[in-house]
Amino acid sequence: MRTIDSLDVKGRRVLVRADLNVPLDGDTITDDGRIRASVPTISDLAGRGARVIVCAHLGRPKGKVAPEFSLAPVAARLGELLGRPVAFASDVVGDSARAVAEGLADGEVALLENLRFEPGEESKDDETRGAFADKLASLAELYVGDGFGAVHRKHASVYDVPKRLPHAAGGLTVAEVEVLKKLTEEPARPYVVVLGGAKVSDKLGVIANLLGKVDRLLIGGGMAYTFLKAQGNEVGRSLLQEDQLDQVRGFIAEADKRGVELVLPVDVLAATEFAEDAEHEVVEATAIPADREGLDIGPRTRELFAGKLADAATVFWNGPMGVFEFDAFSGGTRAVAQALIDSDAFTVVGGGDSAAAVRKLGLPEDGFSHISTGGGASLEYLEGKTLPGLAALED
Ligand code: 3PG
Repeated sequence: MRTIDSLDVKGRRVLVRADLNVPLDGDTITDDGRIRASVPTISDLAGRGARVIVCAHLGRPKGKVAPEFSLAPVAARLGELLGRPVAFASDVVGDSARAVAEGLADGEVALLENLRFEPGEESKDDETRGAFADKLASLAELYVGDGFGAVHRKHASVYDVPKRLPHAAGGLTVAEVEVLKKLTEEPARPYVVVLGGAKVSDKLGVIANLLGKVDRLLIGGGMAYTFLKAQGNEVGRSLLQEDQLDQVRGFIAEADKRGVELVLPVDVLAATEFAEDAEHEVVEATAIPADREGLDIGPRTRELFAGKLADAATVFWNGPMGVFEFDAFSGGTRAVAQALIDSDAFTVVGGGDSAAAVRKLGLPEDGFSHISTGGGASLEYLEGKTLPGLAALED
């Protein structure tokens, strides 16, 4: 992949695909991690006299204009972080975008409105997507792919535009790929992966692939209940994906066959309901009462997991261990994060909720070797899939 150093950007309009998909509460950005991660590439380009046009998506408005998914609050935050004003186009490829792009002077930065307001961005039809990509590409002379969190999407701004413009990978994309390569090509051992989050169905591909690569696999979060059930335990009203039970039984057998140590919760915080202030108690993972649901891993599991992480040389962690958004059920996620911080291993936090949890729980980000901006993207990379946005940058 070419890097941005290879581009002569002075005085030229550069379209930067960033991942600025941040959580919002109304107009308030609740975690600006992805915006901060996008700043170095934009700053570098602007500092070298480029006319920078940033494009990005927010949420899933599905091809329709939806004011609650406007990138306007993101433009304001990006401007604060860059320390320079960011012009905001009120459309993606319309009159406003064109006027803003044409009005940029050397070193100035603009942000286009949410790419996903345009149906062409995500269209499965190559021609429809291509027609939108033509319009987007016509705003600029060069393209930089820096939206690592979206490289697994075959979308116009990710996949088709780099085919139309001279292009390079931004610094964030380069850094993310370097880290993930370390995990896939001869990781230092023991290599321990911690997976959590709500649904096992989101992680099928990655589990299947990791079983051939890791020494230990620790499973927590909502997905653990499907594993516990597959082992013959009752899980009460805990999150359960009945339709995945056979698949999970297959994983358990495969782990055994390959000598991968599969570690499941031994106790859980079982609550009367899914609520911040729900009454709860610690119960054995093998005896969750019928009227209760597990909302976090219990204290013995936290210790067990910390012990399994203590001698690791490489760790990848994706997915919270419980409902960390509720203080009462954030202890398991905090304990796993702390175990990574305490470890001497090369530690990678795989984006999405786990990255948000680290920041929400006030844990030091520099306590980890790398916090990825890509949730789905980093998982698909570890699955061994070809990611359209990376493939397009290779050409
Ligand atoms: C993410 O949040 O993982 C990326 O921004 C991609 O978003 P998407 O899952 O809506 O495509």
